[in-house]
Amino acid sequence: MSEFKTVRGMRDFLPEEARLLRHVESKGREMARLYGYREIVTPVVEPYELLSAKAGEEVKSRMFLFKDLGGRDVALRPEFTASIARLVATTLRNEPKPFRLFSTGTVYRYDEPQRGRYREIWQTNYELLGSSRPEADAEILLLTCNLMKAAGLRKFTFKVGHVGVLRGIFTQEKLLEKVQSAVMQLLDKKQYEDAFKLVESAGVSEACMPTLRKMIDLKGNNVLEVVDRVADLVKDYEKAVEAAKNLREILDLVLKSEAGVDLTVDAGFARGLEYYTGMILEVFVPDLDIALGGGGRYDKLIELFGGDPTPAVGIAHGVDRMMLAVQQQRTPQKVLQETERERTVLVIPIKQELRGEALRISQILRNVGIPVELEVMGRKMTKALEDADRRKMSYAVIIGEKELKEKAVVVRNLGKRAQSTVKIEDVAKAVES
Ligand code: HAM
Repeated sequence: MSEFKTVRGMRDFLPEEARLLRHVESKGREMARLYGYREIVTPVVEPYELLSAKAGEEVKSRMFLFKDLGGRDVALRPEFTASIARLVATTLRNEPKPFRLFSTGTVYRYDEPQRGRYREIWQTNYELLGSSRPEADAEILLLTCNLMKAAGLRKFTFKVGHVGVLRGIFTQEKLLEKVQSAVMQLLDKKQYEDAFKLVESAGVSEACMPTLRKMIDLKGNNVLEVVDRVADLVKDYEKAVEAAKNLREILDLVLKSEAGVDLTVDAGFARGLEYYTGMILEVFVPDLDIALGGGGRYDKLIELFGGDPTPAVGIAHGVDRMMLAVQQQRTPQKVLQETERERTVLVIPIKQELRGEALRISQILRNVGIPVELEVMGRKMTKALEDADRRKMSYAVIIGEKELKEKAVVVRNLGKRAQSTVKIEDVAKAVES
Protein backbone atom coordinates (compact mmCIF):
# COMPACT_ATOMS: atom_id res chain seq x y z
CA MET A 1 0.00 0.00 0.00
CA SER A 2 1.37 3.45 -0.85
CA GLU A 3 2.19 5.93 1.93
CA PHE A 4 -0.84 8.00 2.91
CA LYS A 5 -0.61 11.77 2.58
CA THR A 6 -2.98 14.64 3.17
CA VAL A 7 -5.03 15.79 0.18
CA ARG A 8 -3.30 18.61 -1.73
CA GLY A 9 -3.87 21.96 -0.04
CA MET A 10 -5.05 20.35 3.24
CA ARG A 11 -2.82 20.45 6.32
CA ASP A 12 -2.22 18.76 9.64
CA PHE A 13 -1.56 21.00 12.62
CA LEU A 14 0.90 19.28 14.94
CA PRO A 15 0.59 20.14 18.68
CA GLU A 16 2.73 23.32 18.63
CA GLU A 17 1.00 24.60 15.48
CA ALA A 18 -2.42 23.65 16.79
CA ARG A 19 -1.62 25.59 19.97
CA LEU A 20 -0.76 28.68 17.94
CA LEU A 21 -3.88 28.22 15.82
CA ARG A 22 -6.07 28.04 18.92
CA HIS A 23 -4.20 30.98 20.45
CA VAL A 24 -5.04 33.19 17.45
CA GLU A 25 -8.58 31.85 17.39
CA SER A 26 -9.00 32.55 21.12
CA LYS A 27 -7.96 36.15 20.50
CA GLY A 28 -10.65 36.25 17.81
CA ARG A 29 -13.17 35.02 20.35
CA GLU A 30 -11.96 37.59 22.85
CA MET A 31 -12.55 40.39 20.32
CA ALA A 32 -16.04 39.04 19.68
CA ARG A 33 -16.71 39.30 23.41
CA LEU A 34 -15.21 42.77 23.74
CA TYR A 35 -17.19 44.17 20.81
CA GLY A 36 -20.47 42.33 21.53
CA TYR A 37 -20.49 39.83 18.65
CA ARG A 38 -22.41 36.67 19.54
CA GLU A 39 -21.21 33.38 18.10
CA ILE A 40 -23.25 31.61 15.47
CA VAL A 41 -22.45 28.18 14.03
CA THR A 42 -23.53 27.39 10.47
CA PRO A 43 -23.02 24.27 8.29
CA VAL A 44 -19.87 23.62 6.29
CA VAL A 45 -22.01 22.28 3.42
CA GLU A 46 -24.52 24.71 1.88
CA PRO A 47 -26.52 24.88 -1.38
CA TYR A 48 -24.26 25.85 -4.26
CA GLU A 49 -26.87 28.37 -5.39
CA LEU A 50 -26.58 30.27 -2.11
CA LEU A 51 -22.79 30.23 -1.98
CA SER A 52 -22.34 31.22 -5.62
CA ALA A 53 -24.99 33.97 -5.82
CA LYS A 54 -22.62 36.87 -5.18
CA ALA A 55 -19.28 35.21 -4.59
CA GLY A 56 -17.75 36.54 -7.82
CA GLU A 57 -16.21 34.50 -10.65
CA GLU A 58 -12.90 33.88 -8.91
CA VAL A 59 -14.30 32.38 -5.69
CA LYS A 60 -17.06 30.62 -7.65
CA SER A 61 -14.60 28.83 -9.90
CA ARG A 62 -12.65 27.62 -6.87
CA MET A 63 -15.46 26.08 -4.90
CA PHE A 64 -15.46 22.46 -3.72
CA LEU A 65 -18.70 21.65 -5.53
CA PHE A 66 -20.41 18.24 -5.61
CA LYS A 67 -23.76 16.50 -5.79
CA ASP A 68 -24.98 14.95 -2.57
CA LEU A 69 -26.64 11.53 -2.69
CA GLY A 70 -30.00 13.26 -3.10
CA GLY A 71 -28.75 14.82 -6.34
CA ARG A 72 -28.56 18.34 -4.89
CA ASP A 73 -25.79 20.72 -5.97
CA VAL A 74 -23.96 21.53 -2.77
CA ALA A 75 -20.54 22.96 -1.93
CA LEU A 76 -18.15 23.38 0.97
CA ARG A 77 -18.52 26.99 2.14
CA PRO A 78 -15.81 29.27 0.72
CA GLU A 79 -16.69 31.92 3.35
CA PHE A 80 -19.16 32.60 6.18
CA THR A 81 -20.92 35.70 4.85
CA ALA A 82 -23.40 33.93 2.53
CA SER A 83 -24.58 31.65 5.36
CA ILE A 84 -25.01 34.60 7.73
CA ALA A 85 -26.95 36.53 5.07
CA ARG A 86 -29.18 33.46 4.55
CA LEU A 87 -29.98 33.39 8.26
CA VAL A 88 -30.61 37.13 8.45
CA ALA A 89 -32.96 36.84 5.45
CA THR A 90 -34.88 33.96 7.07
CA THR A 91 -34.71 32.76 10.69
CA LEU A 92 -33.24 35.97 12.12
CA ARG A 93 -35.44 38.23 10.01
CA ASN A 94 -37.24 39.78 12.96
CA GLU A 95 -34.25 40.18 15.22
CA PRO A 96 -34.02 43.79 16.46
CA LYS A 97 -31.23 45.69 14.71
CA PRO A 98 -28.36 46.15 15.04
CA PHE A 99 -26.98 42.75 15.79
CA ARG A 100 -23.48 41.47 15.69
CA LEU A 101 -22.50 37.91 14.79
CA PHE A 102 -19.20 36.07 15.11
CA SER A 103 -18.21 32.79 13.46
CA THR A 104 -15.04 30.78 13.38
CA GLY A 105 -14.01 27.58 11.64
CA THR A 106 -12.85 26.33 8.28
CA VAL A 107 -13.78 27.48 4.79
CA TYR A 108 -12.68 25.83 1.55
CA ARG A 109 -11.28 27.23 -1.69
CA TYR A 110 -9.55 25.40 -4.51
CA ASP A 111 -6.68 27.91 -4.53
CA GLU A 112 -3.21 27.02 -5.81
CA PRO A 113 -1.37 25.86 -2.66
CA GLN A 114 1.68 27.88 -1.66
CA ARG A 115 2.98 29.64 1.45
CA GLY A 116 -0.03 31.30 3.08
CA ARG A 117 -2.44 29.90 0.52
CA TYR A 118 -4.29 26.73 1.40
CA ARG A 119 -7.46 24.93 0.41
CA GLU A 120 -8.74 24.45 3.93
CA ILE A 121 -8.66 27.90 5.52
CA TRP A 122 -9.35 28.91 9.11
CA GLN A 123 -11.20 32.20 9.51
CA THR A 124 -12.58 34.39 12.28
CA ASN A 125 -15.56 36.28 10.87
CA TYR A 126 -17.55 39.25 12.16
CA GLU A 127 -20.76 40.70 10.70
CA LEU A 128 -22.48 43.86 11.94
CA LEU A 129 -26.05 43.93 10.64
CA GLY A 130 -28.60 46.72 10.48
CA SER A 131 -26.49 49.86 10.43
CA SER A 132 -25.49 51.87 7.37
CA ARG A 133 -23.62 54.45 9.39
CA PRO A 134 -19.87 55.13 9.13
CA GLU A 135 -19.29 54.24 12.80
CA ALA A 136 -20.24 50.65 11.92
CA ASP A 137 -17.58 50.55 9.18
CA ALA A 138 -15.07 52.13 11.56
CA GLU A 139 -15.87 49.46 14.18
CA ILE A 140 -14.94 46.64 11.80
CA LEU A 141 -11.60 48.28 11.08
CA LEU A 142 -10.81 49.01 14.74
CA LEU A 143 -11.82 45.50 15.83
CA THR A 144 -9.36 44.11 13.29
CA CYS A 145 -6.67 46.44 14.56
CA ASN A 146 -7.24 45.23 18.13
CA LEU A 147 -7.25 41.61 17.01
CA MET A 148 -3.90 41.96 15.23
CA LYS A 149 -2.37 43.49 18.35
CA ALA A 150 -3.92 40.91 20.69
CA ALA A 151 -2.61 38.06 18.51
CA GLY A 152 0.89 39.41 19.13
CA LEU A 153 1.51 41.27 15.84
CA ARG A 154 3.49 44.48 15.99
CA LYS A 155 3.45 45.89 12.49
CA PHE A 156 0.45 45.86 10.21
CA THR A 157 -1.20 48.24 7.76
CA PHE A 158 -4.68 48.65 6.39
CA LYS A 159 -5.51 49.17 2.74
CA VAL A 160 -8.87 50.90 2.41
CA GLY A 161 -11.04 51.80 -0.56
CA HIS A 162 -14.68 52.24 -1.53
CA VAL A 163 -16.45 50.17 -4.17
CA GLY A 164 -19.02 52.94 -4.57
CA VAL A 165 -16.55 55.26 -6.28
CA LEU A 166 -15.86 52.94 -9.22
CA ARG A 167 -19.41 51.60 -9.29
CA GLY A 168 -20.70 55.20 -9.28
CA ILE A 169 -18.67 55.97 -12.38
CA PHE A 170 -19.64 52.73 -14.13
CA THR A 171 -23.36 53.11 -13.39
CA GLN A 172 -23.44 56.69 -14.68
CA GLU A 173 -21.56 55.45 -17.76
CA LYS A 174 -24.35 52.86 -18.14
CA LEU A 175 -22.10 49.81 -17.85
CA LEU A 176 -24.16 46.65 -17.40
CA GLU A 177 -24.00 45.10 -13.93
CA LYS A 178 -22.32 42.02 -15.41
CA VAL A 179 -19.62 44.08 -17.10
CA GLN A 180 -19.07 46.13 -13.91
CA SER A 181 -18.47 42.93 -11.95
CA ALA A 182 -16.05 41.61 -14.59
CA VAL A 183 -14.10 44.90 -14.45
CA MET A 184 -13.95 44.73 -10.64
CA GLN A 185 -12.60 41.17 -10.83
CA LEU A 186 -9.83 42.34 -13.18
CA LEU A 187 -9.00 45.30 -10.95
CA ASP A 188 -8.84 42.96 -7.95
CA LYS A 189 -6.20 40.96 -9.82
CA LYS A 190 -4.45 44.21 -10.78
CA GLN A 191 -4.97 43.47 -14.47
CA TYR A 192 -5.54 47.17 -15.10
CA GLU A 193 -5.08 47.24 -18.88
CA ASP A 194 -7.57 44.40 -19.39
CA ALA A 195 -10.01 46.19 -17.08
CA PHE A 196 -9.65 49.43 -19.03
CA LYS A 197 -10.15 47.66 -22.36
CA LEU A 198 -13.37 46.17 -21.10
CA VAL A 199 -14.63 49.56 -19.91
CA GLU A 200 -13.61 51.23 -23.17
CA SER A 201 -15.34 48.59 -25.28
CA ALA A 202 -18.61 49.38 -23.47
CA GLY A 203 -18.61 52.77 -25.22
CA VAL A 204 -18.05 55.12 -22.27
CA SER A 205 -17.74 58.92 -22.40
CA GLU A 206 -14.49 60.56 -23.44
CA ALA A 207 -13.73 61.78 -19.93
CA CYS A 208 -14.17 58.35 -18.35
CA MET A 209 -10.92 56.65 -19.35
CA PRO A 210 -8.52 59.41 -18.21
CA THR A 211 -10.46 59.62 -14.95
CA LEU A 212 -10.08 55.88 -14.38
CA ARG A 213 -6.38 55.93 -15.25
CA LYS A 214 -5.75 58.76 -12.81
CA MET A 215 -7.80 57.05 -10.17
CA ILE A 216 -5.73 53.89 -9.95
CA ASP A 217 -2.68 56.04 -9.23
CA LEU A 218 -4.38 57.79 -6.34
CA LYS A 219 -3.13 56.21 -3.16
CA GLY A 220 -1.28 57.20 -0.01
CA ASN A 221 -1.30 57.33 3.76
CA ASN A 222 -2.28 60.97 4.11
CA VAL A 223 -5.72 59.44 3.84
CA LEU A 224 -8.10 62.40 4.10
CA GLU A 225 -6.10 64.28 1.49
CA VAL A 226 -6.17 61.33 -0.90
CA VAL A 227 -9.92 60.94 -0.47
CA ASP A 228 -10.40 64.66 -1.18
CA ARG A 229 -8.38 64.27 -4.37
CA VAL A 230 -10.55 61.29 -5.36
CA ALA A 231 -13.71 63.34 -4.73
CA ASP A 232 -12.32 66.12 -6.88
CA LEU A 233 -11.32 63.75 -9.67
CA VAL A 234 -14.79 62.17 -9.88
CA LYS A 235 -16.75 65.40 -9.36
CA ASP A 236 -18.87 64.81 -12.49
CA TYR A 237 -20.14 61.50 -11.13
CA GLU A 238 -22.67 62.18 -8.39
CA LYS A 239 -22.75 58.71 -6.80
CA ALA A 240 -18.96 58.45 -6.88
CA VAL A 241 -18.65 61.75 -5.00
CA GLU A 242 -21.14 60.49 -2.39
CA ALA A 243 -19.04 57.34 -1.97
CA ALA A 244 -15.84 59.35 -1.51
CA LYS A 245 -17.59 61.49 1.14
CA ASN A 246 -18.74 58.34 2.93
CA LEU A 247 -15.19 57.00 2.95
CA ARG A 248 -13.93 60.32 4.28
CA GLU A 249 -16.38 60.16 7.18
CA ILE A 250 -15.34 56.60 8.05
CA LEU A 251 -11.63 57.44 7.97
CA ASP A 252 -12.19 60.61 9.96
CA LEU A 253 -13.84 58.52 12.71
CA VAL A 254 -10.99 56.00 12.65
CA LEU A 255 -8.45 58.81 13.03
CA LYS A 256 -10.47 60.37 15.86
CA SER A 257 -10.46 57.05 17.72
CA GLU A 258 -6.71 57.56 18.18
CA ALA A 259 -6.14 53.84 17.79
CA GLY A 260 -2.87 54.51 15.98
CA VAL A 261 -3.96 52.62 12.86
CA ASP A 262 -1.57 52.60 9.91
CA LEU A 263 -3.84 53.37 6.93
CA THR A 264 -3.41 53.66 3.17
CA VAL A 265 -6.21 54.70 0.84
CA ASP A 266 -6.09 53.10 -2.59
CA ALA A 267 -8.66 54.45 -5.05
CA GLY A 268 -8.18 51.57 -7.51
CA PHE A 269 -8.67 48.90 -4.84
CA ALA A 270 -11.31 46.25 -5.61
CA ARG A 271 -12.15 42.91 -4.00
CA GLY A 272 -12.97 39.58 -5.62
CA LEU A 273 -16.25 38.99 -3.77
CA GLU A 274 -19.07 40.64 -5.66
CA TYR A 275 -21.46 41.69 -2.92
CA TYR A 276 -19.58 44.75 -1.69
CA THR A 277 -21.33 48.09 -2.02
CA GLY A 278 -19.28 50.46 0.15
CA MET A 279 -16.02 50.68 2.05
CA ILE A 280 -13.65 47.77 1.53
CA LEU A 281 -10.53 46.96 3.50
CA GLU A 282 -7.66 44.53 3.81
CA VAL A 283 -4.94 44.21 6.41
CA PHE A 284 -1.29 43.38 5.66
CA VAL A 285 2.00 42.84 7.46
CA PRO A 286 5.37 43.81 5.97
CA ASP A 287 7.17 40.97 4.14
CA LEU A 288 3.99 39.00 3.46
CA ASP A 289 2.25 40.27 0.35
CA ILE A 290 -0.96 38.42 1.14
CA ALA A 291 -3.85 39.87 3.13
CA LEU A 292 -4.33 38.72 6.73
CA GLY A 293 -7.96 39.80 6.61
CA GLY A 294 -10.45 41.41 4.30
CA GLY A 295 -14.00 42.68 4.28
CA GLY A 296 -16.28 45.58 3.70
CA ARG A 297 -19.84 46.86 3.42
CA TYR A 298 -22.51 44.86 1.60
CA ASP A 299 -25.89 46.57 1.82
CA LYS A 300 -27.80 44.54 -0.81
CA LEU A 301 -27.01 40.88 -0.12
CA ILE A 302 -29.70 40.17 2.46
CA GLU A 303 -32.36 41.66 0.22
CA LEU A 304 -31.05 39.57 -2.67
CA PHE A 305 -31.57 36.47 -0.50
CA GLY A 306 -35.23 37.46 0.02
CA GLY A 307 -34.83 39.29 3.33
CA ASP A 308 -35.74 42.83 4.32
CA PRO A 309 -33.33 45.50 3.14
CA THR A 310 -30.55 45.27 5.74
CA PRO A 311 -27.33 47.24 5.55
CA ALA A 312 -24.35 45.22 6.71
CA VAL A 313 -20.61 45.39 7.11
CA GLY A 314 -18.16 42.66 8.05
CA ILE A 315 -14.72 41.15 7.86
CA ALA A 316 -12.98 37.78 7.94
CA HIS A 317 -9.43 37.17 9.10
CA GLY A 318 -7.24 34.35 7.85
CA VAL A 319 -6.12 32.58 11.03
CA ASP A 320 -3.51 30.57 9.08
CA ARG A 321 -1.96 33.74 7.74
CA MET A 322 -2.03 35.43 11.13
CA MET A 323 -0.11 32.42 12.45
CA LEU A 324 2.46 32.86 9.68
CA ALA A 325 2.81 36.54 10.54
CA VAL A 326 3.26 35.76 14.25
CA GLN A 327 5.96 33.23 13.32
CA GLN A 328 7.65 35.88 11.20
CA GLN A 329 7.46 38.86 13.55
CA ARG A 330 7.81 37.19 16.93
CA THR A 331 8.98 34.01 18.59
CA PRO A 332 5.72 32.04 18.73
CA GLN A 333 6.82 30.44 22.02
CA LYS A 334 7.03 33.89 23.60
CA VAL A 335 3.63 34.90 22.31
CA LEU A 336 2.15 31.73 23.73
CA GLN A 337 3.94 32.14 27.06
CA GLU A 338 2.57 35.67 27.42
CA THR A 339 -0.95 34.33 27.42
CA GLU A 340 -0.70 30.79 28.72
CA ARG A 341 1.09 30.25 31.96
CA GLU A 342 -0.20 26.85 32.80
CA ARG A 343 1.41 24.49 35.25
CA THR A 344 1.60 20.86 34.20
CA VAL A 345 2.16 17.91 36.49
CA LEU A 346 3.50 14.42 35.86
CA VAL A 347 2.37 11.77 38.33
CA ILE A 348 4.83 8.89 38.70
CA PRO A 349 4.07 5.72 40.68
CA ILE A 350 7.42 4.29 41.71
CA LYS A 351 6.18 0.74 41.36
CA GLN A 352 3.41 -1.13 39.54
CA GLU A 353 1.35 -1.75 42.69
CA LEU A 354 0.93 1.99 43.20
CA ARG A 355 -0.76 2.66 39.83
CA GLY A 356 -4.21 2.78 41.48
CA GLU A 357 -2.98 5.40 43.95
CA ALA A 358 -1.42 7.36 41.08
CA LEU A 359 -4.77 7.40 39.26
CA ARG A 360 -6.56 8.49 42.44
CA ILE A 361 -4.17 11.38 43.10
CA SER A 362 -4.25 12.44 39.45
CA GLN A 363 -8.03 12.72 39.73
CA ILE A 364 -7.76 14.86 42.87
CA LEU A 365 -5.59 17.34 40.95
CA ARG A 366 -7.67 17.36 37.77
CA ASN A 367 -10.84 17.90 39.80
CA VAL A 368 -9.46 21.27 40.84
CA GLY A 369 -8.42 22.10 37.28
CA ILE A 370 -4.74 21.18 37.31
CA PRO A 371 -3.55 19.46 34.10
CA VAL A 372 -2.01 16.09 34.93
CA GLU A 373 -0.24 13.48 32.85
CA LEU A 374 0.20 10.03 34.26
CA GLU A 375 3.39 8.05 33.67
CA VAL A 376 1.96 5.30 31.46
CA MET A 377 5.19 3.79 30.11
CA GLY A 378 6.16 1.95 33.30
CA ARG A 379 9.53 3.75 33.27
CA LYS A 380 11.89 4.07 36.19
CA MET A 381 11.55 7.33 38.07
CA THR A 382 14.78 8.89 36.72
CA LYS A 383 13.76 8.19 33.10
CA ALA A 384 10.28 9.59 33.67
CA LEU A 385 11.75 12.73 35.29
CA GLU A 386 14.18 13.23 32.40
CA ASP A 387 11.25 13.10 30.00
CA ALA A 388 9.23 15.57 32.09
CA ASP A 389 12.24 17.93 32.08
CA ARG A 390 12.60 17.63 28.33
CA ARG A 391 8.93 18.54 27.90
CA LYS A 392 9.29 21.49 30.30
CA MET A 393 6.65 20.26 32.72
CA SER A 394 6.38 22.18 36.00
CA TYR A 395 6.06 19.49 38.68
CA ALA A 396 6.38 15.77 39.27
CA VAL A 397 4.28 14.10 41.94
CA ILE A 398 6.04 10.92 42.99
CA ILE A 399 3.97 8.22 44.63
CA GLY A 400 6.09 6.11 46.94
CA GLU A 401 5.18 3.46 49.49
CA LYS A 402 6.92 5.09 52.42
CA GLU A 403 5.19 8.46 51.94
CA LEU A 404 1.80 6.86 51.28
CA LYS A 405 1.87 5.29 54.73
CA GLU A 406 1.89 8.88 56.01
CA LYS A 407 -0.86 9.84 53.50
CA ALA A 408 1.74 11.91 51.66
CA VAL A 409 3.60 12.09 48.32
CA VAL A 410 6.79 13.74 47.07
CA VAL A 411 6.27 16.93 45.08
CA ARG A 412 9.23 17.91 42.90
CA ASN A 413 9.52 21.38 41.39
CA LEU A 414 11.18 20.54 38.08
CA GLY A 415 12.32 24.08 37.36
CA LYS A 416 13.95 24.65 40.74
CA ARG A 417 15.03 21.01 41.14
CA ALA A 418 13.76 21.07 44.73
CA GLN A 419 11.43 18.58 46.34
CA SER A 420 9.49 18.07 49.55
CA THR A 421 7.06 15.64 51.10
CA VAL A 422 3.50 16.93 51.07
CA LYS A 423 0.26 15.59 52.55
CA ILE A 424 -2.08 14.37 49.79
CA GLU A 425 -4.73 16.88 50.86
CA ASP A 426 -2.19 19.68 50.26
CA VAL A 427 -0.82 18.51 46.87
CA ALA A 428 -3.02 20.84 44.81
CA LYS A 429 -1.85 23.82 46.84
CA ALA A 430 1.78 22.72 46.55
CA VAL A 431 1.73 22.57 42.74
CA GLU A 432 -0.09 25.88 42.44
CA SER A 433 2.30 27.89 44.55
P1 HAM B 1 -11.76 37.15 1.82
O1 HAM B 1 -10.91 38.35 1.59
O2 HAM B 1 -12.09 36.32 0.64
O3 HAM B 1 -13.09 37.69 2.51
O4 HAM B 1 -11.09 36.22 2.90
C1 HAM B 1 -10.73 36.71 4.17
C2 HAM B 1 -9.34 36.25 4.55
O5 HAM B 1 -9.26 34.83 4.50
C3 HAM B 1 -8.23 36.73 3.63
O6 HAM B 1 -7.84 38.04 3.91
C4 HAM B 1 -7.14 35.73 3.97
O7 HAM B 1 -6.47 36.11 5.15
C5 HAM B 1 -7.92 34.47 4.24
N1 HAM B 1 -7.84 33.59 3.04
C6 HAM B 1 -8.59 33.63 1.93
N2 HAM B 1 -8.21 32.68 1.05
C7 HAM B 1 -7.18 32.02 1.64
C8 HAM B 1 -6.33 30.92 1.25
N3 HAM B 1 -6.49 30.27 0.10
N4 HAM B 1 -5.39 30.51 2.13
C9 HAM B 1 -5.22 31.11 3.33
N5 HAM B 1 -5.98 32.16 3.73
C10 HAM B 1 -6.94 32.60 2.91
C11 HAM B 1 -14.13 36.90 2.92
O8 HAM B 1 -14.04 35.71 3.08
C12 HAM B 1 -15.38 37.67 3.25
N6 HAM B 1 -16.44 36.71 3.60
C13 HAM B 1 -15.12 38.67 4.36
C14 HAM B 1 -16.33 39.44 4.74
C15 HAM B 1 -17.09 39.26 5.84
N7 HAM B 1 -16.84 40.45 4.05
C16 HAM B 1 -17.91 40.89 4.69
N8 HAM B 1 -18.10 40.15 5.76
